[in-house]
Amino acid sequence: MSPDQPHPPHGHPAALAPVDAADLTWREAEGLGAVPVSARFDDPYYSLEDGLAETCHVFLLGNDLPTRLVPGFRVAELGFGTGLNLLAAWDLAERHGTALRYTGFEAFPMRPEEAARALMPWTPQFGDKITRLLDGWREDAITLDTPLLQAEVILGDARQTLPEWRGMADAWFLDGFAPAKNPELWEPALLHQVARHTVPGGSFATYTAAGAVRRALAEAGFAVERVRGHGTKRHMTIGRLPVNEPGGTGGSAAGRVSPPDTSAQA
Ligand SMILES: C[S@@+](CC[C@H](N)C(=O)[O-])C[C@H]1O[C@@H](n2cnc3c(N)ncnc32)[C@H](O)[C@@H]1O
Repeated sequence: MSPDQPHPPHGHPAALAPVDAADLTWREAEGLGAVPVSARFDDPYYSLEDGLAETCHVFLLGNDLPTRLVPGFRVAELGFGTGLNLLAAWDLAERHGTALRYTGFEAFPMRPEEAARALMPWTPQFGDKITRLLDGWREDAITLDTPLLQAEVILGDARQTLPEWRGMADAWFLDGFAPAKNPELWEPALLHQVARHTVPGGSFATYTAAGAVRRALAEAGFAVERVRGHGTKRHMTIGRLPVNEPGGTGGSAAGRVSPPDTSAQA
């Protein structure tokens, strides 16, 4: 297996405890019907105003995907949730005719029937893709293999699974629940691991502009920018790792980040 090939779902090196399922309540939102809300984190999975528009603004445009997609482009995501961000990225890749590889990290996976309900509002845009995603969605594994998309979700607490991951990403979607409610997914040590699993010149985007998150990402080596958020949100955050100069360290910030040891798989 090459260093950046995704692990098979059961081939993850760390022996992980069984994961807890998502704990959902449903809230009525105008134009969307019932929207899933995490009872554990007391936060919705996507914007109650227009989840898909926010996904496109924050994660696709925030990572500059329309201009950066090339065959084999690797997206990784902290917080797989409903799979909505994956569907949007897959759709973009399909429109560009480029193959995409996706790895999601998820501690509390939804059951397939919950995911089906959560994704119902997006049937007009993604009906066929939703069917294919749900075909590969089991309680203990979520994978998808199509000509233009190879996707897997690594189940477990990302604080344990990401350090063990042998892959690298060109772009990250950082989509935990609000940092105040879900601080685990925004811990500086985890964001350092995000940088460690990003190629030189790679990027992240997130809807939050929380100062502690921005500082942790800068400390991890990203050149961080606060930019306009979606809709009523004033700000969001994007960032890039410096591109390594031949023979150089990639700049002072990147010099702090050492990539994962993939030699065992090379
Ligand atoms: C805002 S939701 C993600 C929404 C998702 N990106 C989508 O497209 O539907 C945040 C997700 O992070 C997950 N999560 C929270 N803490 C986690 C952790 N420590 N490790 C991995 N996933 C976690 C939650 O279970 C939830 O699915």
